[in-house]
Order: sequence, then C-alpha cells, then structure tokens
Amino acid sequence: MASNLRILVIGSGGREHAIARKLLASPSVSEVYCAPGNPGMVATGIKLVPLGELDFDQLIEFAKKQSISWTFVGPEDALVAGIVDRFQAAGLKIFGPTAQAAQLEGSKKFALEFMQKYQIPTARYQAYADEQSALAGLSNFELPIVIKADGLAAGKGVTIAQDQLTAQQAIKQVFEERKQQVVLEEFLVGDEYSLFVVVGQTDYRILPMAQDHKRVADHDHGPNTGGMGAYSPLPQLSAELYQQMLTEVVKPTVHGLRQAGFNYHGVLYIGLIATKTGPKVIEYNVRLGDPETQVVLPRIASNFAELIDACVQDQPLPPVAVADFAAVAVVIAAQGYPQSPQAGHKLPILAENSKIKIDYANVAGQAPGNLTANGGRLAAVIASQPDLLTAQKAAYDYLNSLNLTGCFYRHDIGQKATGKSFT
Ligand code: AMP
Ligand code: GLY
Repeated sequence: MASNLRILVIGSGGREHAIARKLLASPSVSEVYCAPGNPGMVATGIKLVPLGELDFDQLIEFAKKQSISWTFVGPEDALVAGIVDRFQAAGLKIFGPTAQAAQLEGSKKFALEFMQKYQIPTARYQAYADEQSALAGLSNFELPIVIKADGLAAGKGVTIAQDQLTAQQAIKQVFEERKQQVVLEEFLVGDEYSLFVVVGQTDYRILPMAQDHKRVADHDHGPNTGGMGAYSPLPQLSAELYQQMLTEVVKPTVHGLRQAGFNYHGVLYIGLIATKTGPKVIEYNVRLGDPETQVVLPRIASNFAELIDACVQDQPLPPVAVADFAAVAVVIAAQGYPQSPQAGHKLPILAENSKIKIDYANVAGQAPGNLTANGGRLAAVIASQPDLLTAQKAAYDYLNSLNLTGCFYRHDIGQKATGKSFT
C-alpha cells in the first residue's frame, strides 16, 4: 500500500480542483500541489505552484526538488504537447498518455482512423485536407451534417449545420482561421454520455458514468461550451445498453490501445451517443472531463490515490467501489461565455458544507471574499444527496440563494434523468 504520497496535479480548472480534492482525501496522500491551480483551491488545502502547465522544464525541476511521488495531468494541452514523454525521460512518474497516444484527442482524423481499424462503432465520416474537396464532399452527407476542425478546440471546433449554407461557411472558416484538416461526419441522434476508463499496463477500471451539458443555454440551446454541468449516476441508462457499451466500445478500444503499442497509462474518456442502432463513439479524450470529474470522483468510494498509484507503478489495478449517492454539478459561468466572457466582477462567498462542495475554475484574487471572475467558467456547485432529484434541488436551492452578478448558470442540469428543471 502506498503511503505519504506527494502529488503534483497539472492544470487550473474545476476538474483539477476535484482531482486534487479527491487525492487529498486519501489516507495514502500527505501533500497535493497544483500547477498553476487557482486561488479558489487554497481553502481545500491544495498548495499552489506558480508554474504554467506547459512550463515542462520548471515543472520537472519542481517535481524533483519536492520529491513528488507522481504527477497527475488534468488538461489535454499538456498531454498533446508531450508532458508525459518529458517527465518520463527525466525519470519521473506521471499519470497520463504519451503525446503519440494523446493524438486520439488531438486529431479527430487520427481518432477516426483508430476506430475504423479496431472496428469501434462511430459516425460515418470523411476527412479533407483542402476547402474545395471538403465543399464537394458535402454532397455525400445528409443534413444535418457535423463539421469538425481537426485539432484541439476546447469543445468549440464543432458545427452542426442544418443547411448547406451554414455547412459551407463552417468549412470555409476552418480553413481560413485554423488552416487545418476538416472532418465531415454523419449526425448521430440519441442521448450523449461520458464514460471514463483508467487504463493501466495490463488491466483497466471503469469509473462511474456521467452526463455533461455542452450547450450554453437551458434545454440544449445556443453554442457548445466546455460543459455547463453534469450529474451521476444515470438511472435512465439501462443495464443492457451499459453492457453493450462495455462489450462493443470499451473492450475493443482498450484492445486497440494495446495493439497499437501506445503503452497507454491514464484516463481514456469515451464520448458516446446511444443511437437506435447501439452506442457509437463521437470522441475520445485522453483525460478526465470537466465538469464530469466534479461528480464522478465524489462517487468513488474506494481509495482513488491507490488506483492511480497502482497504474503509474504498473501494478494490478485495485477494484473501484461506487458510492450509492447521486451528485449534481452546476457550472457558474461569466456573462458572455463562451463567445466573450466578462471578467473582473466579484464572486460572492460560496460556503461549503457536508453536502455542497465548490470546485473553482477561472478565478483570480483571494478566497474567501475576494475572488473575481477571470474567464469563462468560474466555479461549479456540487450537491451530493441520496438521489438525483434531491441533489438537483439542493444545488438549485443553493444557487438561488446567491447574489450572482455578471454570471449565469443553466437551470436544467439533470433534467434528462429526473424530468425536472429549476427555472
Ligand atoms: P466533440 O468536440 O467531438 O466532442 O463534439 C462536441 C459536441 O458536438 C458533442 O459533445 C456532441 O454534442 C456534438 N457532436 C459531435 N459529433 C457529433 C455527431 N456525429 N452527431 C451528433 N452530435 C455530434
Ligand atoms: N466536458 C467535456 C470535456 O471535458 O471535454
């Protein structure tokens, strides 16, 4: 059994607050640092390290100096940029995939080719390297059509076009602004789910599932965001469909990771749509989701630090025990998010109690009382209760009691499970 672990978490958002909080709660852990973290984390006992997530040289120096047992990477940018390769080359233990494997998230084309090779169900698609052939390719798809920019886009690189003109404009925009490849994809109809797998040397463990709410406004209106709220468990997901996800998607995916020689160590996030003809993958991410992590990790009843420790040490992975309560996370975002979020306004004091936790994201200043908005998503209110409806109600009672200026949140997080929204 691991003990006295000293852990470094890379990243600064609500996801990293949830990861660091969970690790710190483990009896195996003595210290959790977060680089760069955010000032809202300090009250949880997390130590901030003023280093950027891409400052690899300095992060390595810090990990060596502070005798860090292992590093947990939160965001995709650092993974795609090769933080794992760099740490390993420096003789340091780190949880996350290498840059090569991170292409599963970093390149839509790479991910789609992987799915094709290992026969994993996904949408029909075609990748194009130039505007002319992409425009011509439109005739091969029915409307609505999904247009994806190849490469990382923080959840904002996808257009779902209902008509030809919007589709043409989206394609032109990809090549004008990003100069990348474009992927045209069949539109899948069905509910969307997030499935997280901790993948180790020889085995893997599935974490509790969650549902994200990607669109900015209530009832899935408006543009896509990084995620406006999440909940877990998913009572509407039948045992049969879950089993189908495991046999048709998770198994062949993990098999593919091994066959491809990725030596994958880390979380694989599988974004699924439950279509009439079965579950299909719409994306792979090579990390935990934000804000799903804020509801998934609280529901893990076994020692999470032990699981990650076993993974980085190439030991057999211990089982994951799931708590039988529900969690709902509602994201508070700055007005104007995702297009042009306002910054600078003050946040009210967000008190925690045994049933409500606050995971902070883009905040500046000092807690408590002097935290200000510093970007898009500011914090998540996470309620844990015996069932989803009670958790939903607790989260919204809490939010409605706040005096939030310059901020907004969705009122329907969890509605797909409970049928209730709180407008
Ligand atoms: P992605 O960046 O691939 O996760 O896409 C962002 C969001 O667009 C997803 O969470 C879905 O809501 C939606 N989306 C992506 N691909 C498809 C698809 N083929 N069919 C339907 N919706 C999609
Ligand atoms: N919540 C979606 C994501 O983390 O990509």
